[in-house]
Amino acid sequence: MSHATTTVEPHDLDPYAPEAQLAPAAYYDRLHAQGPVVHVPERDLWLVAGHAEAVQVLRNHTQFVSGDGVTFEVPTTRTERYPLIENDPPLHDRIRRSVQPSFSKRAVEALRPGIEDVAREITQEVVDRGEFDAIPVIARAMPDRAMTLLTGITPPSAAALADWSDATSRAEEPAGTPEHASQVMEAVTWLVSEGLPAMPAHCLGRLIVDSGGNDGSLEEGTERVMVLASMWLAGIDSTGGLIGNAVNAFIEQPEQWDLLRERPDLVPNAVEEVLRHGAPFRAFFRRTRTAAEVAGVPIPAGARVAVMLAAANRDPRQFPDPHRLDLTRENAKTHLGFGNALHVCLGSPVARVEVASLLSELSKRVVRFERAGDPVPSASQTVQKLDALPVRVVTAEGAGR
Ligand code: HEM
Repeated sequence: MSHATTTVEPHDLDPYAPEAQLAPAAYYDRLHAQGPVVHVPERDLWLVAGHAEAVQVLRNHTQFVSGDGVTFEVPTTRTERYPLIENDPPLHDRIRRSVQPSFSKRAVEALRPGIEDVAREITQEVVDRGEFDAIPVIARAMPDRAMTLLTGITPPSAAALADWSDATSRAEEPAGTPEHASQVMEAVTWLVSEGLPAMPAHCLGRLIVDSGGNDGSLEEGTERVMVLASMWLAGIDSTGGLIGNAVNAFIEQPEQWDLLRERPDLVPNAVEEVLRHGAPFRAFFRRTRTAAEVAGVPIPAGARVAVMLAAANRDPRQFPDPHRLDLTRENAKTHLGFGNALHVCLGSPVARVEVASLLSELSKRVVRFERAGDPVPSASQTVQKLDALPVRVVTAEGAGR
C-alpha cells in the first residue's frame, strides 16, 4: 500500500514544537493519523513513526546509515564521533564485539546483587522521607550508582553526572547551545584527568582503557576513551528519565501499582511496559546516502530521517489502547525504547536489572505514590523526562500492613 506524504500545518507535526513536546500523546495521535512516514519540510526532516516501519528502517543499516550522525544536528564542535552509535559496519561491529561480553547474561547477573542493594537503599530513603522529589531521590540515584558498579567510574556527584549526560543529547538538538557542548567536553576532560586514574584495579573501565576490551581490539588512545565515555554518558540520563516517567505513570494509574503489588511475577513485563509507555528517547536519526522508500513513501538521498521511537511505542496498530499503561500487555516487549537491530542498546540488560530491582523493592513497601506538587517537564528536546516530580508515599508500614 502506498501512503502519500501529507504536508499539513507545520506546528501540527513538528516534533520540536512546544505542543508536541509538552503533550506527546496527542502529538503521536496526530502523527499516526498521517500515516507511518511524514515529511516536515520546515525542519527538512522525515519522521518514521509507524512501529513496523521504524523497525524496517533500523534493520536496514545500508540504506539508513548511522555514520552521518544519529542526532538532529551533526555535531560541529565535537571532533571525535561516538564509536558505537555513530558508526556503521564493519567498524561498528568490531568495536561492539570488543565490549559485548561485558553485557552477557552472566556478566549482568554478577552485577545484580549490587544493584539490588542500591534498590533497597533507595526504597529505605523513600520510606524514611515520605514526601520528596522523586527525580533526585529515585530516578537519578539508581543509574548514578549502577553505572559506578558497571564501569568503575565514581563521578564527582550524581547531579554533575546527570547534567553531563543530559548535555550529551541536548548539544545536538535544535535548541542545543555551546554551553551544552562545553559540558560534554568538561565530562570527557574530567573522565580522563580524574575519573580514569581513580578507577579500581578490576573493572570494565580498566578493561577498555588498559586492555582494549575483551578481545584487546580497541585502539589505544582516543578510541578506548570514547568507547568508555560514550557508554558511561549513555547510561545515566536514559535510565533516570525512564524511572521518573515510570513513577509518574504509576501516580496517574494507581491501579497498575496495586496490580504490581499483588503480582510480583509481573515485574519483568512491567519493566518492558514502562519502557514502551515512558520511553525516554523521542527519536534517533539515520541519514540516507541513496534514495530509499518506506511504506511506499520515497525518501531522497541525503535525507535526515527521525526514527520516532517513543511515537512507535504508541502506534495503535501495534499496541491497542496505546496510551494506557498495562502491565499485562502481551507484546510489551516489542517496544522500541532500546531501538532495534545492530545498534540495539548495549546497556539494555543492565538498565532492565536497574528498573526491575527498583520496581520489586519499591512495590514491597510503597502502597501508593501520590502527587505532592506539579511535575516539571524537562526542556530537553531529545529525552522525554521530568526535571522534578514531587511525590508523597503511603507506605506499607504507615498503612499498618
Ligand atoms: C532505560 C535506559 C536506556 C535506554 C532507553 C536506552 C536507549 C538506547 C537506544 C534507543 C539506543 C539505540 C540508538 C540507535 O539506534 O541509534 C541505545 C544505544 C546504546 N546504548 Fe542505551 N539506553 C539505555 C541505557 C543504557 C545504558 C545503561 C548503557 C550503558 C552501557 C547504554 C549504552 C548504549 C550504547 C553504548 C549504545 C550504542 C550501541 C550501538 O550503537 O551498538 N544505554 N540506547
